[in-house]
Amino acid sequence: MRHDVKDLALAARGKARILWADRNMPVLRAIRERFEREKPLKGVRVAACLHVTTETANLMRTLVAGGAQVALCASNPLSTQDETAASLVQDWGVATFAVKGEDHDTYYRHLNAVVDEKPAITMDDGADLVSLLHSGRKEALPGVVAGTEETTTGVIRLRAMAQHGVLGYPIIAVNDAMTKHFFDNRYGTGQSTLDGVVRATNMLVGGSTVVVAGYGWCGKGVAMRARGLGAHVVVTEVDPVKAIEAVMDGFDVRPMAEAAPRGDLFITVTGNKHVIRNEHFLAMKEGAIVCNSGHFNVELQLEGGLYGLARSRQEVRDLVEEFLLPNGRRIYVLADGRLVNLACAEGHPAMVMDMSFANQALSAEWILKHREGLGRTVHVIPEELDREIARIKLGTMGYAMDVLTDEQRAYLASWQEGT
Ligand code: ADE
Repeated sequence: MRHDVKDLALAARGKARILWADRNMPVLRAIRERFEREKPLKGVRVAACLHVTTETANLMRTLVAGGAQVALCASNPLSTQDETAASLVQDWGVATFAVKGEDHDTYYRHLNAVVDEKPAITMDDGADLVSLLHSGRKEALPGVVAGTEETTTGVIRLRAMAQHGVLGYPIIAVNDAMTKHFFDNRYGTGQSTLDGVVRATNMLVGGSTVVVAGYGWCGKGVAMRARGLGAHVVVTEVDPVKAIEAVMDGFDVRPMAEAAPRGDLFITVTGNKHVIRNEHFLAMKEGAIVCNSGHFNVELQLEGGLYGLARSRQEVRDLVEEFLLPNGRRIYVLADGRLVNLACAEGHPAMVMDMSFANQALSAEWILKHREGLGRTVHVIPEELDREIARIKLGTMGYAMDVLTDEQRAYLASWQEGT
């Protein structure tokens, strides 16, 4: 089997960690057991471009159990867990192409390697794979019948492609499932982002001022968890509705120009570019820490910004780079402005990825079955599947709900009963 990983000798450690994550992925496990029996993906070639983590490994095992032939590359140069990649090759038969810290050329060589496997299904996180299939590797496009997309940023790119009439096959926006973005984006990003910052810096969050740029689902989670650790949280927004929401959630809301001199820690989660620019870096306090938890490393203006502005730069801890500014102050950028939760920590915990990846597995099965009737556009997973994932998850967490009585059901369906 073709592969490119750091070192296959890491596989034993990777396998133990994959099985550890699996303990907290009961919904995905139940799907895997059914896939094992029913083989809904028999003989289907899947190319996945996802963060190569223990949780992703359990998704890959599920696809393999369903009968798929799977090739996997990283969706970010810094998010790969090398031991997980080794185990995927050695223990689970997944053709994996991912090495933590790979450069830009290697990243694209690995994307090309999964396209070489002639996929019928693509599974993307950020839409780099889809984008490659519609640009440099167009010859492989006719072989693809359907795809899935994990993240908000990818869904935005794909909707833009569909709107321009260039999307070559139907794709399910896994991100748009309720059991994905309500939980993964909010509780997953919230916890794992602060985990990444703390692992990288060992800073005390309590009592510090944390500036969170963006109050979407991810921003809400980051702001909530920073407050939970005792930080004073300032939110920046461009959308007035989200800004009011942040205010009514109890946060201070200001433009970045006003937030810049106040923050001890800056976290961008906007999905947009150049949210923190030179004028902001220059206004920051001595010792300010700056990082990003949005999908792409464009939220901080580093190229064409800080990298040119700084008098010097040096790595002072793993993935912590110090920049000396012309005003004599030093600021610290984490993980080259890449996803801090995956580069400096392990990404979202398995407990929440369980629902995200249950959606991925069921979406792959569903879109394969229903592809004929679907246009070449972006679709959402049917609500029954989404709710079923929630129902199973709730049960596995040891909770139960009430059930509507017949009288209540009739009341909800009626219009005669009123005042
Ligand atoms: N995205 C965020 N956290 C992740 C994880 N643990 N695995 C895969 N993708 C992720």
